[in-house]
Amino acid sequence: MKELVNYFQNKKVSSVLDIGCGSGDFINVLTTVFPEGTKITGIDPFEEALAEARRKFPSVEFLQMGGEQISFPDNCFDVVSISFALHHLGDVSKTLSEMKRVVKPEGWLVINEIVSEVQNEAQENQKMLHHLKSLVDRLKGIPHRETYSTAEVLEIIRSNGISVEHSFTDLKMSKPSFDPELLEQRTNQLNEHLEELKNHSSYETKTSLFADYEDRLETYGFQIAPSIVVIGRKKV
Ligand SMILES: C[S@@+](CC[C@H](N)C(=O)[O-])C[C@H]1O[C@@H](n2cnc3c(N)ncnc32)[C@H](O)[C@@H]1O
Repeated sequence: MKELVNYFQNKKVSSVLDIGCGSGDFINVLTTVFPEGTKITGIDPFEEALAEARRKFPSVEFLQMGGEQISFPDNCFDVVSISFALHHLGDVSKTLSEMKRVVKPEGWLVINEIVSEVQNEAQENQKMLHHLKSLVDRLKGIPHRETYSTAEVLEIIRSNGISVEHSFTDLKMSKPSFDPELLEQRTNQLNEHLEELKNHSSYETKTSLFADYEDRLETYGFQIAPSIVVIGRKKV
């Protein structure tokens, strides 16, 4: 993520905490942004994802923990980040408040969040599937919102008292993929999600919404929607 690398180029950062790290996709980005020797810690409530992250990043410390209650003292990290996880949180304000608490005065908060403004049909394919999965999760009682708009993300950040220093749009996938394996995985996911909705009132609507989804994948491919990256600062 070139813009993040440029932003932190001359900043002194020795410790980073990544909230909702999952299997480590954003940890991978952080290892390119900050120099070797930077102490990186990742937290996530789900042990299965952490086990994979530990295998991939042996020098990073991973702890099972939710963002709403971070068991670190006040003011102890130079940077605290959260990527693609804001819309998964049970309590966004509590998590942002915890992030502000554990970051050092004058430290940075990095919020990377996928947004609803798609640019092409391949990204629309990702958004459709994501929103279906979020519905399935919500029906199971798992917090998972549909994607926020860019304006909503900025409003959440500002209304939680974080002053925005810099923001930019990022593309995790630079162009649509037509990789047959990836497209098959997406079709399988779609079928799993629809299967889980079988006894729900929205089943018919969703089935017809996704009737031509396999054709859409073949025609347009699949691409992760854009995200907004916001860098905030803890002012003293
Ligand atoms: C889409 S994944 C993002 C993973 C990674 N950060 C990335 O950028 O790809 C969302 C992650 O948020 C985590 N999550 C869900 N609820 C959470 C919570 N209350 N606090 C922190 N993380 C949470 C999930 O376990 C999942 O790993």
